[in-house]
Amino acid sequence: MQKIGVNTASRPSSVFCGGGAAEEAARFLAGKDVFLLTDNNVYSLYKELIEEKFGGARVFAVPAGERHKNRHTLFQILDGMLEAKLNRNSWLAALGGGVIGDMGGLAAALYMRGIRAVQIPTTLLAQVDSSVGGKTAIDYRGVKNVIGAFYQPEYVFCDPLFLRTLPRRELRCGLGEIVKTCALDQAILEKTEAMAGRLFGLAFQEEITADCVRFKARIVEEDECERSGRRKCLNMGHTTGHALELSYGRRSHGEYVLIGMAFEIAIALEEGILSAEYAARLRALIGKVIGKTPRFAGIEEAALAALYDKKNSGKGEISLIVPEAPGRYRELVLPIEKYVRYLSRFNGGIA
Ligand SMILES: NC(=O)c1ccc[n+]([C@@H]2O[C@H](COP(=O)([O-])OP(=O)(O)OC[C@H]3O[C@@H](n4cnc5c(N)ncnc54)[C@H](O)[C@@H]3O)[C@@H](O)[C@H]2O)c1
Ligand SMILES: [Zn+2]
Repeated sequence: MQKIGVNTASRPSSVFCGGGAAEEAARFLAGKDVFLLTDNNVYSLYKELIEEKFGGARVFAVPAGERHKNRHTLFQILDGMLEAKLNRNSWLAALGGGVIGDMGGLAAALYMRGIRAVQIPTTLLAQVDSSVGGKTAIDYRGVKNVIGAFYQPEYVFCDPLFLRTLPRRELRCGLGEIVKTCALDQAILEKTEAMAGRLFGLAFQEEITADCVRFKARIVEEDECERSGRRKCLNMGHTTGHALELSYGRRSHGEYVLIGMAFEIAIALEEGILSAEYAARLRALIGKVIGKTPRFAGIEEAALAALYDKKNSGKGEISLIVPEAPGRYRELVLPIEKYVRYLSRFNGGIA
């Protein structure tokens, strides 16, 4: 098990990664006043583990899934916290995927102006990405994550034991963020390439989680609240990915991130930003997770939805974070019309 510090200005936190992390969480929470938030799926899969390790906690399970990441569920959670008579010394433990982590973190930030929180992420996506960095949120009026706060957990416990029950779709979701990180960090790229035939296996996932956490921790330390632009690199693949996700929405988030990356790599290649050889390396990893990039009907309209992406500040222009060389990336700003033309040109034609 590894312990990784996240030294953000608002509050330093520690992330435990590896076998034994759930046990570490159990030891840490024993004897404390704990409100354990989870979702129905996770609860039915891990009821016995929860009782065995967190028997002293008040367990509160909410319906699973992104469509419940809303104000109704948030206020159900806050009601539950109030009824459990939590006080300023109580702890909230969010045991679940990114939805539970984001909502639990927000509830912890709001209740009595903030009680302490720990994250026990149970999906690959939550372990390598969402549980670290302190972004918490709910969706509101159709806008994703529009109501939220930056609120760091005190501890995060990433235990691979939870990953065994994850369906392939959810694994792909986490792998999407891992391959994104490959395009940002050379060591993670090389390690992933060396294990490229085993991305869906637990050994790789266990091995790479701590590396991804360490990478994200360094970025978040430099730009906790996404002000300096440093944190922007984590959005690689997301601008195009989000636009397609909004319009087509059948695949998982991670798949759209990879499809978005495939398009953005093709654009960067065309713009002379990266070499054909490096593009091929990244495409090979993308292919291992999602196979061939599909063709989308009406991609121009879908891309125009990207105009409304909250991360695009300028008018008539779109900003992409694109890979340059292993461990190097840069911002590419394109006029919308040019961007849309690129998308239709590469639609269905990327290996
Ligand atoms: N805070 C951040 O920085 C950040 C970053 C990326 C994503 N997110 C958010 O994370 C959310 C997505 O997270 P997610 O992909 O973990 O989704 P999720 O929490 O909805 O979990 C996906 C599904 O897997 C189930 N599940 C969870 N753990 C399981 C396990 N061990 N075995 C079997 N099934 C399990 C859940 O019940 C759910 O049905 C989105 O809302 C997104 O906005 C936040
Ligand atoms: Zn993402």
